[in-house]
Amino acid sequence: MKKNIKGVILAGGTGSRLFPITKVFSKQLLPVYNKPMILLSLGLMVSIGIEEILIIVTKRDLILFKRLLGNGKEYNCKITYKVQLKPAGIAQAITLAKSHFTSNKILLMLGDNFLFGSNLKNVILDAMSSAKGASIFTYKVKSPERYGVLNIKNNKIKNIVEKPKKPTSNKAIPGIYIYDQKSINYVKNLKPSNRGELEITDLNNLYLKKNDLEIFHLGDGIIWMDMGTFDSYLEASQFIAATEKRQGFEIYDFKKNEV
Ligand code: DAU
Repeated sequence: MKKNIKGVILAGGTGSRLFPITKVFSKQLLPVYNKPMILLSLGLMVSIGIEEILIIVTKRDLILFKRLLGNGKEYNCKITYKVQLKPAGIAQAITLAKSHFTSNKILLMLGDNFLFGSNLKNVILDAMSSAKGASIFTYKVKSPERYGVLNIKNNKIKNIVEKPKKPTSNKAIPGIYIYDQKSINYVKNLKPSNRGELEITDLNNLYLKKNDLEIFHLGDGIIWMDMGTFDSYLEASQFIAATEKRQGFEIYDFKKNEV
């Protein structure tokens, strides 16, 4: 099953919330304790058995990503690249990954998201074999306003709202998604949002409306962080350093051939 699924990591964008540190190169190349950020999403993909991974990058930094990751051999996978000319939105990744849909589904991850923990692999594997066209995940957070959030009324999921001012639940949507080929056509019909982007939340809402979306909860024992702000970036580095020093192993250790 997992062999049918190809991975896509979105590593473009402007990283403007981390200016000036992301002024000269992409956020996903910044060090997070002992490795460049992108190796955290790559490590998760390889750990669940994904062998072919497309990395979407800016034109400016393609050369840097290639210098770091090459064809993927060193990281136990096959890596190819695609340039996103402008940060036109996360959902544009689907269009850019079109030729990657030779298998039935893709696993899309945002290159600034960090996920790690017990049972994570199994939840993702379950989601990958879902009969629904798309699968997303939820994670309980204290401040959901920064994310896509489940809008729950009378115990029912109504829709997903991007960065709601008044969230109706604490269930945020992490930057890891699974889509079937129908997403290619759905994205063609999306309109740019107020922030001028093709929103991944709009795509997820389309699947939800068609009753073709399965939602999996990432529970206790799993850590999810985005690293898009100074604080969350620092906290991810601190978490990884503390865990590795305390337990004496490296998170997503490619040298060991078992990440
Ligand atoms: O972190 C999870 C959140 O990511 C979700 O809960 C939200 O629903 C989703 O919209 C997204 O929110 P952000 O506002 O944090 O996304 P951001 O614009 O920061 O982009 C996330 C990553 O995707 C970042 O690594 C840059 C990359 N990106 C973004 C855009 C808009 C691209 O490569 N290209 C793009 O066009």
